[in-house]
Amino acid sequence: MSAQRRIAVVGGGSGALGRAVAVRLVADGFPVVVAARRPPDPDVPGAVFVHCDLGVPSDVEALDARVRADGGWAAVVNASGGYAGDLAHRIGEEERAARLDLNLLGPWRLAASAARAMEEQGDGGRIVNVISRAAVEVAAGQAAYQVAKAGLLRLTEVMARELLDSGITVNAVLPSVMDTPANRRGMPGADTSRWVPVERVAAAVSWLLSPEAGPVSGAAVPVYGRA
Ligand SMILES: NC(=O)c1ccc[n+]([C@@H]2O[C@H](COP(=O)([O-])OP(=O)(O)OC[C@H]3O[C@@H](n4cnc5c(N)ncnc54)[C@H](OP(=O)(O)O)[C@@H]3O)[C@@H](O)[C@H]2O)c1
Repeated sequence: MSAQRRIAVVGGGSGALGRAVAVRLVADGFPVVVAARRPPDPDVPGAVFVHCDLGVPSDVEALDARVRADGGWAAVVNASGGYAGDLAHRIGEEERAARLDLNLLGPWRLAASAARAMEEQGDGGRIVNVISRAAVEVAAGQAAYQVAKAGLLRLTEVMARELLDSGITVNAVLPSVMDTPANRRGMPGADTSRWVPVERVAAAVSWLLSPEAGPVSGAAVPVYGRA
């Protein structure tokens, strides 16, 4: 990794979308760090894996120290998270805390850590949160997911406002159903042609990190395919 060039960090870069984002950002010319609990499989050529459990604040601090030492932060993409069904009035304390941590507090920790470093660097930066259509469309049976994703959307907007004068942009992409191996396994017989390929979501993220998107902050970009 170059000691000079600023780095794009992909939180949850071992996942279906996160890996596609890491591949895309390497192709875009960024030095890329994949941050997750396990490395991507298959490996992302050109990217560096750093173990980071986003539920553990000291892991996020260690990631920040590593990125600062290796060139500093250009961008962070929060691609971690995961779906689970539940009912708002039935979910247990532990489950609720875990799901809010996975889909809201973990990404918040990483975004905040990156923003502090970018502020100190003084030359701007990019933050992109992968959220979900669930943040803007109410559905029953996925309470913790909906609340966390809606919270992450508001966090995106709040951070965009708070960081307006720093040159740090904060945006979100909202995929609907993505074409992933897990979704193919979980929904056999579905019309996968309506789903959005992860590479297309990664392309939207790539644009938000591009020079052309410099004036764009606080946006929530729907990437729905035909789903
Ligand atoms: N799949 C869909 O159809 C769909 C639709 C809309 C929105 N989304 C959202 O898009 C994002 C990516 O989805 P996906 O399908 O790519 O999910 P995925 O394949 O299940 O990947 C999830 C990623 O989150 C990481 N992660 C989970 N807990 C973590 C932790 N404590 N610390 C660090 N990383 C952690 C996992 O890495 P490790 O396990 O290695 O830590 C993995 O890289 C999620 O936020 C999801 O809610 C997905």
